[in-house]
Amino acid sequence: MGIDPNYRTSRPVAGEHAGHKVYGPVEPPGKLGIHGTIVGVDFDICIADGACINACPVNVFQWLDTPGHPASEKKADPVNEQACIFCMACVNVCPVAAIDVKPP
Ligand code: F3S
Ligand code: F3S
Ligand code: ZN
Repeated sequence: MGIDPNYRTSRPVAGEHAGHKVYGPVEPPGKLGIHGTIVGVDFDICIADGACINACPVNVFQWLDTPGHPASEKKADPVNEQACIFCMACVNVCPVAAIDVKPP
């Protein structure tokens, strides 16, 4: 199952990271929540495939090390979500549907 497209309202905001919100629950290192509001990446689903990083024409993502997470030890962090031009390439290439994009 992929990212819940309703996470922006259904999940509590657990904090901020690199200029974007983090939606909980967050219990590191095993549970990391969803990073981003315009471009949301479910860290608990991401398997560090990297296709999103290669596909994004405006470099929204940057690797973040997440040692000890069961799905993968790094995640695509949407550090530059404000730059998103909504091409949806990331959404289409992620093999585990970990990304949801919604214009503000
Ligand atoms: Fe990049 Fe995905 Fe937006 S590929 S431009 S973050 S829709
Ligand atoms: Fe992760 Fe999917 Fe990108 S698995 S690294 S969000 S393509
Ligand atoms: Zn982040």
